[in-house]
Amino acid sequence: MSFFPVIIIGAGAAGLMCAAQAGARGRQVLLLDHANKAGKKILMSGGGRCNFTNMYSEPGNFLSGNPHFCKSALARYTQWDFIELVAKHGVPYHEKKLGQLFCDNKASDILNLLLAECDAAGVDLRLDTQIEKIDKLETGYRLLTSGGSFDCESLVIATGGLSIPTLGATGFGYQVARQFGHELLPTRAGLVPFTITEPQLKELCTELSGTSVEDCLVSCNGQSFKENILFTHRGLSGPAILQISSYWQPGDSVQINLLPHLDLPEWLAEQQRERPNSELKTLLGELFTKKMANLLAEQWFVSKPLKQYTPAELNTVATRLAEWTLVPAGTEGYRTAEVTLGGVDTREVSSKTMESLKSPGLYFIGEVLDVTGHLGGFNFQWAWASAHAAAQFV
Ligand code: FDA
Repeated sequence: MSFFPVIIIGAGAAGLMCAAQAGARGRQVLLLDHANKAGKKILMSGGGRCNFTNMYSEPGNFLSGNPHFCKSALARYTQWDFIELVAKHGVPYHEKKLGQLFCDNKASDILNLLLAECDAAGVDLRLDTQIEKIDKLETGYRLLTSGGSFDCESLVIATGGLSIPTLGATGFGYQVARQFGHELLPTRAGLVPFTITEPQLKELCTELSGTSVEDCLVSCNGQSFKENILFTHRGLSGPAILQISSYWQPGDSVQINLLPHLDLPEWLAEQQRERPNSELKTLLGELFTKKMANLLAEQWFVSKPLKQYTPAELNTVATRLAEWTLVPAGTEGYRTAEVTLGGVDTREVSSKTMESLKSPGLYFIGEVLDVTGHLGGFNFQWAWASAHAAAQFV
């Protein structure tokens, strides 16, 4: 039986950060993971370049059943703190857009930075370790693992959510929470593409697979995002769709304004006056790809010279383009989702320390908690901030 003051389960973004910071405080840390490599999601993130934070991160970028919970940790470890760490390690980065910071080179720069910090802090990292049992002691916890038994004072659960099981995701953190009397909020896939089954719409998506439309306004349940959408052979994706998917529940409709930068009724009337003999299809071809224009003209409208449209018909065209309403059949699920919504109910966790209010010495950090960021580097910022908060107290 070995004793470590602090044991952290999960060597992902939050676990590595917490281990490094607790170690830097002089705490002896054992960091365990069942995977054969630490930080697999970091390596896959941001298309291989890791969107490691967002310059405009603020509490409004996070979804939670308890929206105030994230504020304290985010304020005590901000995006600027992580940017300083990135700069300290000489990792080159750039803003892609909307405050999203990416590595110039590879996501492994971020993983290597965290591993170097862990190394410097004397963290004992053990991979390929299955956690078989956790028991509560009078003070602290006892872990039975494939690599032996360990006792600790503070046990940190940093095992993330359910997204992408092939990258090591499991529901382990939720099981531990339940074991120690925590409530869980229902989990569902977030930042995930929609699937479409309605035959005509599915055909449109399949035909246009790979086509993106820039800066669409996508809305659902009172929330809107202006970003690109992407047609896929199974439905719709792209940043605006991923963002809105976190606000969507099965059966909800989604509204898409394909041309939010135009006052369409006015613009169409103007075109009718200025070039009455042009066909609607030609007009659409100036706004979308030729293929998309042809398909819309065939499937959504009857294309004819503009002069032949009545004002009511032109209005219908404007409405269809500005208020395209569809009901997705579902989402691609955890197989491709970037995050898991829901999880450990934050009402039973201290927002200052991330410690369980049910079981002293037990901590939850990162995605396992019911805090989910928007797309754009916010989920890593939550991992860093919640890890930092816990690291000061474990
Ligand atoms: P994380 O999932 O990182 O780590 C959990 C760790 O626990 C893993 O190492 C896992 O092996 C381990 N574990 C799980 N079960 C275990 C068990 N039973 N026993 C032992 N260990 C166990 N976010 C962002 O801000 N910018 C981005 O660019 C991206 N890009 C991105 C791309 C893709 C493809 C995905 C899937 C996700 C993103 N994200 C993202 C989201 C981001 O990766 C995610 O929110 C954080 O990694 C969450 O950090 P955690 O440490 O909480 O979990």
